[in-house]
Amino acid sequence: MIKVGVMGYGKAGKAVAEVLRHDPRFELCWVARRTAPHSAETLPDSDIPVIGLNNVALGDWLDTHPVDALVDFSGADAVFVYGEEVRKRQLMLVSAISAYSEKELDYVRSLGADTRVLCSPNMTVGINFLILAARLLRTIAPFADVEILEQHFRDKPEVSGTARKIADSLDIDDQRITSLRLGGIVGHHEVIFGFPYQTVRIIHNSIQRKAFGTGAAFALSELTTCDKGFYTFEDLMMRKVRSQLLAEA
Ligand SMILES: NC(=O)c1ccc[n+]([C@@H]2O[C@H](COP(=O)([O-])OP(=O)(O)OC[C@H]3O[C@@H](n4cnc5c(N)ncnc54)[C@H](OP(=O)(O)O)[C@@H]3O)[C@@H](O)[C@H]2O)c1
Repeated sequence: MIKVGVMGYGKAGKAVAEVLRHDPRFELCWVARRTAPHSAETLPDSDIPVIGLNNVALGDWLDTHPVDALVDFSGADAVFVYGEEVRKRQLMLVSAISAYSEKELDYVRSLGADTRVLCSPNMTVGINFLILAARLLRTIAPFADVEILEQHFRDKPEVSGTARKIADSLDIDDQRITSLRLGGIVGHHEVIFGFPYQTVRIIHNSIQRKAFGTGAAFALSELTTCDKGFYTFEDLMMRKVRSQLLAEA
């Protein structure tokens, strides 16, 4: 069983911790947040501790509460708090931080020289599969028209970053993204391929933040089969697809 520590106990970290603690492949050992709670905090209905890095030295904590992997859903600066521990102890790292600066990203990449690192601004299996499938179809049918439709809750102000990423990965202009804002939609992304005599739609709908946990679990289990290095979610998915195709050949 892979022992895991989660960094971040906010909206995403809580959902991810819930998924990992119920997955029999993993033992969720602890969760760390920036600020310690007033009294000893644990995950609901468990004795899994939630610590605050303001009053616990991470190195000392890891000595007494060792893990095989860290999953990071905290903040971009946290990597400088745990990075050298990850390097020294050769912990697997799954980082979901979506807004690294160039300096932070360079540092995360550098950890890949010493251990196994997965870094992805989108941690869902579904969106990453959508991108993979859309890229494949674009290669097969470069002549087809391509449009991206994204739908989110009424108050989301900006164009979805995921939609921009899809456009970027397909090498199409952001102008081809249509955004709809309606009620409470959590997240809908659709890539539409218009052929002369047929239409292909690849659709992903987000339901709950726990999808990030499913993605982190996929990443962790795939990283165990990798050599040390820096990987994207797409890298891990392609490895899986390749090994499946080879097994079938
Ligand atoms: N890749 C993906 O698919 C994906 C999906 C969702 C979220 N994310 C990323 O996950 C991160 C958290 O998102 P969120 O919506 O959960 O935010 P949030 O609700 O604000 O929660 C942030 C959590 O991280 C903790 N934290 C922040 N900086 C820290 C540090 N330096 N050391 C330790 N803990 C720290 C906070 O501690 P306190 O509780 O003490 O304040 C809090 O528990 C963001 O970077 C976001 O981009 C990525």
